Amino acid sequence: MDNSSAYLVNFKGFNFESTLIDLEFLGKLDDFEIRDDDVFIVTYPKSGTIWTQQILSLIYFEGHRKRTENVDTLDRVPFLEYNIRHINFEKRLAPRLFASHLPYYLVPKGLKKKKAKIIYVYRNPKDVLISFFHFSNLVVRLEAVDTLEQFMEKFLEGNVLANLWFDHIRDWYKHKDDFNILFIMYEEMKKDLRSSVVKISSFLEKELSEEDVDAIVRQATFENMKSSPQANYDSILQNEIGVRNDGAFLRKGTVGDWKHHFTVDQNERFDRVFREEMKDFPLKFIWDLNEK
Ligand code: A3P
Repeated sequence: MDNSSAYLVNFKGFNFESTLIDLEFLGKLDDFEIRDDDVFIVTYPKSGTIWTQQILSLIYFEGHRKRTENVDTLDRVPFLEYNIRHINFEKRLAPRLFASHLPYYLVPKGLKKKKAKIIYVYRNPKDVLISFFHFSNLVVRLEAVDTLEQFMEKFLEGNVLANLWFDHIRDWYKHKDDFNILFIMYEEMKKDLRSSVVKISSFLEKELSEEDVDAIVRQATFENMKSSPQANYDSILQNEIGVRNDGAFLRKGTVGDWKHHFTVDQNERFDRVFREEMKDFPLKFIWDLNEK
């Protein structure tokens, strides 16, 4: 596998972005202390991480729900492995909320003892691929790719950040009984955000009033997040990560955008690989919101 790209660093078989990662921290991650009330969002990139970060922040922080506090969502729910704001995790007040793209085998071992809760968000991989393609061309810390054909090649080889989509979801699902984990689908969130918020908050054992749920749903829509500086990561991208064009983290936020990009041949190829890789996999995927 060609991982020669200077943008990625491979640690124990997994590709991380090379400039934002602290290899020393990664080396000690296994022993990172997990607390019972920690909450983790785990995703393959481009599957709805930022969206779920916003939802968790709204669930846990009244000041966010009521708009009386002005804190970046990334500071409320930082990435465990990409701690770009250098937050001291040990000193954080409970409950500590984290996001992560880690594969199941690299997470702190405390999680495997079913301490803490994990929300695994997944999205149909054709839309993940399209979102990832645009994102790779947007941020300066990922390798830009000229054509979708080239990106599909890399994606299907796992020669991208976070490796193969198929491995990520399959392995997490296979080991689900080792963790206290809820699987949530991006497309279900899109179809019925309110029910998804209720499902997430009941998994987290957080009592919310109808009014609270309304406030969360309202502030977690694509449009409202896109226009909120705390939620849209625009300034993080521009000032802390670096961008190549005027694209945005919140790009389209739809289901089925792949149909505007894949050629018939690319779609057939993807379907062949998907059928092969995901045979016997029990979770269903939604490729288009109009499908029955
Ligand atoms: P698109 O590029 O298809 O628009 P991640 O945070 O895991 O990187 O995922 C980013 C993807 O989630 C982007 O997809 C982004 O637009 C989408 N997204 C973020 N917030 C959303 C929301 N509130 N509703 C729908 N999609 C959202």
